[in-house]
Amino acid sequence: MNLINETCTLDLIGSVLLDPGDKVWFENPGAIGARNSLIAGGATLVPLPVDADGLVVADGLRRAPDFRLAFVTPMHQQPLGVTMSLERRLALLRAAQAAGAVVIEDDYDGEFHYGKRPLPTLKSIDTSGVVLYVGTFSKTLFPALRLGFIVVPPPLVDVFDNVVSAFLQGVPGNLQAVLAEFIEQGHFATHVRRMRRIYSERHQALQRAAETRLEGLLDIVPTDSGLHTIGRLVSDLCEHAVSHAAAERRITAAPIGRFAVSPIPAKGLVLGFSGTTPDEIVAGVETLGEVLEDLSPHLHGKETH
Ligand SMILES: Cc1ncc(COP(=O)(O)O)c(C=O)c1O
Repeated sequence: MNLINETCTLDLIGSVLLDPGDKVWFENPGAIGARNSLIAGGATLVPLPVDADGLVVADGLRRAPDFRLAFVTPMHQQPLGVTMSLERRLALLRAAQAAGAVVIEDDYDGEFHYGKRPLPTLKSIDTSGVVLYVGTFSKTLFPALRLGFIVVPPPLVDVFDNVVSAFLQGVPGNLQAVLAEFIEQGHFATHVRRMRRIYSERHQALQRAAETRLEGLLDIVPTDSGLHTIGRLVSDLCEHAVSHAAAERRITAAPIGRFAVSPIPAKGLVLGFSGTTPDEIVAGVETLGEVLEDLSPHLHGKETH
């Protein structure tokens, strides 16, 4: 099948598999692009909480046992960074099979995993053909490529192929040919290995800098994979105010709430660590520390009147 970018892939999945009003289990907080694509396709989102094991399947079964589709990011939950446990993966597969639903496994940055051996993908343990595995080259190479891919169960291959041919322009063949050669000649694997090492160092730099500078202000949650993690606000500061003040100091730190479909208890910031060197990370953490202190009047003897 022609390669297409991932956002386009979700539009495609929606148009092939969903009728307007169909219920879709959706992680809350969850991926903004996927949320928009599914809503635009007429889906009724059923926002479900995410705990330390990933999407809370039991909540989905209580609230919408008749779901048609579940959208999940099991390898590295977007945005919380949680890895879905094996038990939860199996529970989700069982629920989908019982409901006659499909599961979209969005593995958008899983090529970058650190330390621990990653858990098997949902797709690889799916014995009943309910999982559609979606990936992208936006993180492994660069987003402007607009290249992604989808692995669909065999009975759906023809219908997806027909819809792509009939309605989508696809991606220029020369781009795909260059990428295919890049992969075949081993350059892609070498690049991913190299970047995995570099991103791991950057993740450690963020952890170290935060331990010394952000103690009592922001708890950085370590991640096993991906290109971002989250920092939980220690005080009751407003995450939007912190994000806004950080942006004024040229630090991008989205509030977790921006990813929420409905109100959530988690309060904090989404912090990317891949696009900056360890020195820049140390400087950025210092600035973030200053921002948090400025907004916390009780610190350093500052009082509000
Ligand atoms: C959850 C998630 N899925 C997929 C993507 C990539 O989408 P695309 O391939 O359209 O760039 C991203 C990019 O940030 C993402 O956060």
